[in-house]
Amino acid sequence: MRIDVVREPDVPPAIDAAIMRLQQRAFPKTESFARSRYYTHTARQGDFRVLAWLDEAPVGQVVVMWANARAGAQNLRLAGLGNVCSDPDHRKEHAASACIERALELARQEDGDGALLFCGASLEKFYARFGFEIVSNEVFFTHPDGTIFRRNHRDIRMGLMLKDQPWPAGDLYLDTEDF
Ligand SMILES: CC(C)(COP(=O)(O)OP(=O)(O)OC[C@H]1O[C@@H](n2cnc3c(N)ncnc32)[C@H](O)[C@@H]1OP(=O)(O)O)[C@@H](O)C(=O)NCCC(=O)NCCS
Repeated sequence: MRIDVVREPDVPPAIDAAIMRLQQRAFPKTESFARSRYYTHTARQGDFRVLAWLDEAPVGQVVVMWANARAGAQNLRLAGLGNVCSDPDHRKEHAASACIERALELARQEDGDGALLFCGASLEKFYARFGFEIVSNEVFFTHPDGTIFRRNHRDIRMGLMLKDQPWPAGDLYLDTEDF
């Protein structure tokens, strides 16, 4: 298995098509993946995607979307992890884990303070393997027009500090729309 990093948003068309195939297989209920490799938003310069390749097809991935976050007086550079998946025919082959490990390593190198993700409660133990813990902060995102909104869904929030400092307390305000 080969692990590669592609820089968003300028992904070559052939890789874009391969990512869409992987995502449609891994997230069959998410209709938007039939139209775009993004869930609801578009990645920004500096964001990146880690892909696990097998026989010239991606079988695992994670996307890292950077956000500037504010918690009280504290400012943080947060790596938002999204679109974590592996191909249904290649589950439990460590494709997703290898991508997450590479993504966290690169996020540390690129001066990330911490990493944040949203997931279903059944995945808590999976992400705990990488050091993520459930966090209780309310998380607010920002639309491109500047409107701030609270992400409102049933997922749990999990955070991991990438530097030797505690996870921030209180409400978290992110300058991105989603991840
Ligand atoms: C969740 C998902 C990414 C796991 O992918 P995977 O390729 O099977 O994961 P890996 O092979 O890297 O798993 C590494 C280890 O975690 C374990 N693991 C996998 N899913 C797990 C889960 N839901 N809970 C606990 N452990 C889990 C594996 O058994 C494996 O254990 P081992 O090291 O003892 O062999 C995959 O099931 C998937 O794509 N699901 C659909 C999309 C999805 O829900 N994505 C998450 C969005 S937040």
